Amino acid sequence: MRIALLLLAVFSTACFANDYQPRAGANGAEIYAQACAACHGADGSGKFSLFFDLTSSTLLTDEMKDVIQKGGFIMPSFANIKGAELDALVTYVRSLGPLIAKAQQTGN
Ligand code: HEC
Repeated sequence: MRIALLLLAVFSTACFANDYQPRAGANGAEIYAQACAACHGADGSGKFSLFFDLTSSTLLTDEMKDVIQKGGFIMPSFANIKGAELDALVTYVRSLGPLIAKAQQTGN
């Protein structure tokens, strides 16, 4: 029973959707601070080591956009972040880590 409750708690977050709506024309840093820093930390290194460290992410631009729009296992989906705001956000996130910056330089 306890395990069933635990599983329920874990899986119920998988379809969690966040209806955060970025300001039209908002830059990446602004969106990140408002919607992402609570879990990923202001510098992307992951809050309390509990949440994903974005600075070591090796995802490509399109894959990152996918995660943001559809969410992950724990991460909520942000379907309202799209278009120019999504581009700006992903560019910002990719600028946070050395690995990401490196991939950016080589065009991946
Ligand atoms: C509720 C906490 C939470 C919030 C808010 C959140 N994330 Fe996440 N994010 C996670 C977790 C946890 C993961 C690891 C995958 C999973 O379990 O969902 C993750 C994974 C990711 C990944 C995948 C990294 C990889 O290499 O696999 C990206 C990219 C990402 N988040 C970006 C963002 C951005 C950008 C925002 C703001 C729009 C954001 N996240 C908001 C918790 C969060």
